[in-house]
Formats: sequence, C-alpha cells, structure tokens
Amino acid sequence: MNYFITTPIYYVNDRPHIGHAYTSVACDVLARFHRLMGDNVKFLTGTDEHGQKVEKSAAALGVTPKALADANSQHFKEMAALMNIGTDPHINFDFIRTTEPRHVQSAQALWKKMADKGFITLGSYAGWYAVRDEAYYQEGELIDTPNGKRAPTGAEVEWVEEPSYFFKLSEFGDKLLAYYEQNPDFIAPESRRNEIISFVKGGLRDLSISRTTFSWGIPVPGDEKHIMYVWLDALANYLSALGYPENTPDMAAFWPANLHMVGKDIIRFHAVYWPAFLMAADLPLPRRVFAHGWWTIEGEKMSKSLGNAVAPGELVQDFGLDQTRYFLMREVPFGNDGNFSREGMINRINSELANNIGNLAQRTLSMIQKNCGGRIPNGTVADAEVGITGVDKDKLIQNMDKCAFDKYAGDIVKYASQANEYIDKKAPWALKKQGELEEMGKVLYALAESIRKIAIMIQPIMPHSSSKVLDLLAVPENQRSFAHLSAEFALLPGVVLPPPEPVFPRFVEKSVDLGGA
Ligand code: MSP
Repeated sequence: MNYFITTPIYYVNDRPHIGHAYTSVACDVLARFHRLMGDNVKFLTGTDEHGQKVEKSAAALGVTPKALADANSQHFKEMAALMNIGTDPHINFDFIRTTEPRHVQSAQALWKKMADKGFITLGSYAGWYAVRDEAYYQEGELIDTPNGKRAPTGAEVEWVEEPSYFFKLSEFGDKLLAYYEQNPDFIAPESRRNEIISFVKGGLRDLSISRTTFSWGIPVPGDEKHIMYVWLDALANYLSALGYPENTPDMAAFWPANLHMVGKDIIRFHAVYWPAFLMAADLPLPRRVFAHGWWTIEGEKMSKSLGNAVAPGELVQDFGLDQTRYFLMREVPFGNDGNFSREGMINRINSELANNIGNLAQRTLSMIQKNCGGRIPNGTVADAEVGITGVDKDKLIQNMDKCAFDKYAGDIVKYASQANEYIDKKAPWALKKQGELEEMGKVLYALAESIRKIAIMIQPIMPHSSSKVLDLLAVPENQRSFAHLSAEFALLPGVVLPPPEPVFPRFVEKSVDLGGA
C-alpha cells in the first residue's frame, strides 16, 4: 500500500521549539510504523515562507524576508535531522519550501484551475485580519480587551480594506457536510470533528484569497498586483511536493494523502478551506486530518514574550534523543493538551525506560554473556511464549491507526513489565547456582525473545535505541519489520552476541556546583 503523511509546513518567522518537534515526531513515528508494516511511504514536511507575518518579522530584524526564510528554514531542516525525522532510508522523505519554483508554479496552477472552474471572483475586502494567525475574523468573533480588540486566539487584529479575489467558499457548505457525514474518520479526534461540523453549519462566507497591501507572496496568475493569501499558498504544498499539476508517478501513487497531521489551532484551514479548494479543483480529498493538542511549559503557555520556548536541541542534549521522542509520544494522549515539565520527563525516562525496558535488556544480556558463553541459549519458541504472553499485534496496529501513541507505548511497557516479573519469578541466577543450566538457558532464551519483540515494536518511537538492542541480539537488519515478529523469525540458539552495553541509562540530575572553597 502507498502511504502519504504530511506535517504542517512551519512559519519561518521564528526558530523551532518542541511544539513543532512534536508534530514532526508524531508523523515520523507513523511513517516508520507504516514502513515496518510493509507500506511504500512518502513523508513530507517543510516551511511556510510567505505572508505578512514573515515579512513583518524580517523588517523588525532589518533583513529581507528571503534571508530570514533561508536562515529559519535551515533551522527546521536541522531540527528534523536532530530529532531523527525522515532519516529512514526506506522512506521517501521530502522537505518543501514555499519559495521554491516547484511550489510557486504548482500553487499558481491550483489557482488557475479553481479560477477556470468559476470559483474565484474579484471584489474588495473590508474587515479584520490577524497577522499572527494569518487569518480573517468577523466583527462578532472578536473580543474586547483593555488593549483593544483581539482575535479569539488572543492575536492582535488590524482593519484591512483592499481589492481582493474571493474564493466562493459559501457554495461548499453542504458538500463539506455531506463529505464529513460519509467519511466519519475524515476529522479526528471526535471533538474536533464536532467543532468543524458546527462551524460549517453556522454558514460559510466567501474567503478573501489575495492581498495587495504588501508583496511577499506568490503573484496571482494574470493579475500581479495581487499576491495569493498565504494559507492558499501554504496548503498547496501538499500537492506541489508531488509535482501537481503534472501527472507524475508521485501524484498517482500518493494523492490523496492518507493523513495531514496538524495542531488544533489550524484544523479549520485543513478541514474546511483545504477540502473546499480541492473540490473546486476537481481533486480527491485527503483521507484524514488529525488535530493534536498543545504543550504548555511547566504550566505556562509557550510564547515569545515569556521567552519560555523549549528548543528541541536542549532536550536532546539533556535527556537523549530517543528519550525525548519517547516522552513526547508517551506522556499525553494524542489530541489532548499536555504539560512539559522536567520532572515528568525524568519520571518517564527512569521508570519506563531505564528501570523497565533497559533493566530487562541489561539483566538478560549480561547473564547470557556470563553464563551462556555469549551465545543465544538453547530454547524453543514454546519456551519463549511464556516470557511475554499475548503480544497483541492487532491492538498495536489499531492504536497506531488512531494515533494513540501513548497506548501503543504503554502496551509495550506492559510487555516489558511482564518479562521483568518472569525473570524475578524464574530467578535464572538461582537456577545457575543449583546447576540447572538447561532450565536457565530456556528462561534466558524466553527473555531474549521477549526483548527482540519489544525492540521491534518500539522502533517507530525509538529508532536508535531499538536498533542498538536488536544489534545486541544479533538480529539481522532484514529481519526487523513487523512481519518478523512471528515465531518463524525467533532467535537462533548458538548465535554469537556482541558484548552487552546499557541502552537506557538512568537519568541523574547533575549536581549544581555552587562554587566556594
Ligand atoms: N504555517 C502554518 C501551517 C501551514 S500548513 C499548510 C503554521 N505554522 S506554525 O509554525 O505556526 O505551526 C506549525 C505547527 O506547530 C502547528 O500544527 C501547531 O499546532 C504546532 N504548534 C505550535 N506550537 C505548539 C505547541 N505549543 N504545542 C503543540 N504544537 C504546537 O501554523
């Protein structure tokens, strides 16, 4: 099966923080999971570089918008590399920038198609606009604050009056509602689906899709005084990366996308505007839009003014790469908001990775090294089945399908706990003392086989550490996919193992040197 997954493309007005890393890691987990299930995966991310927000930020810094975009786009590329995103060589990974010619041509082609079909008209816009959100708001949506009118998101708004092209969004309300009805999985989670349905039922107005009062954007085909509204430009990235409007092999294989992953703040753009644009252009609609929640930092909203944004690099440096990925996926049910705290992170790392999975691997592998001559001991699949019982592959698959990453990881932790209970109950060290070497070998075999399965299953979330564990078990590179979970591919007794090394160290807070004598 072909599987196409996308992250939102990130604004280049600022540097990446863990909110961005979160969306991208979740997509990387799904991309890797589908690859391990045998799918042909395309994974797209990139940067959203046009619009007033970027233009304004650049002006404030005294640089050109292009220079700011170049610098920050590079930071987002580095974030992906740092978080091990899109690095699986079997995944077709692409990073698109909206200033690239391939995107500009494609976005203009989409515009032309919608215009040719009669869905774009020229008029003029008079109303409110929030640069921070790059969104239009109606008077009734605004809130009065001591500092003046604000968007419901808290963003400042300004009054805009200018000639503008409009997209006939008002004609799509019923079609969208019918689509949501016929495709109940199109918007997830359920709460967001309900929110969108009631928004559309409230009536849709035509949408202003061009601007004339600044110039940092893609020119409207045939009327270059106008530039395209940045959201139309940005959404088109999902098609431009596939080569639209050409009939490319990528278009044939990967459109419609299987999943657009987004944060809850941008669900409306993806679940209302985007499908309407696609309907207008006669293109099939994506199969699913999933909106995840937002992170706060130690209880506070992450913001530039509070200066509390956490850079992904800091976490990776302090806690480790896979530990960071694991925490982000495990801590909060995907779809809910979550709070980041160092304490929460340390707890997860120590209780579930170091003390549970890590301890299981370390105890088992070092006993094999010491007592079995560093070779996979003699045991059978039947012995192994008592180590961890009931690995439920279907449940794992269902949880991934629902983006329930916390449950997916939680099940694996449960399997590791079972194996740890088994080791304590069977006490292979005691069997050794009593000279029951055959029984000890069977127990260690069962444990090693449990670890093999755990490592295979946890690969999407922790690719580095799981591959280290699989290396320590001498599992061949070409036997690490989900199809290899089955007994047919169980460890072979007698295979020589490398010397064991700890994979999940305990996190110990560095003591602060207060100086002094
Ligand atoms: N450029 C648009 C997306 C265009 S897609 C065609 C945009 N960019 S963004 O950089 O502001 O946000 C990108 C993603 O990061 C969004 O999905 C947003 O929800 C997510 N996050 C930004 N801050 C976040 C948190 N504090 N927590 C979790 N995710 C957050 O919107």
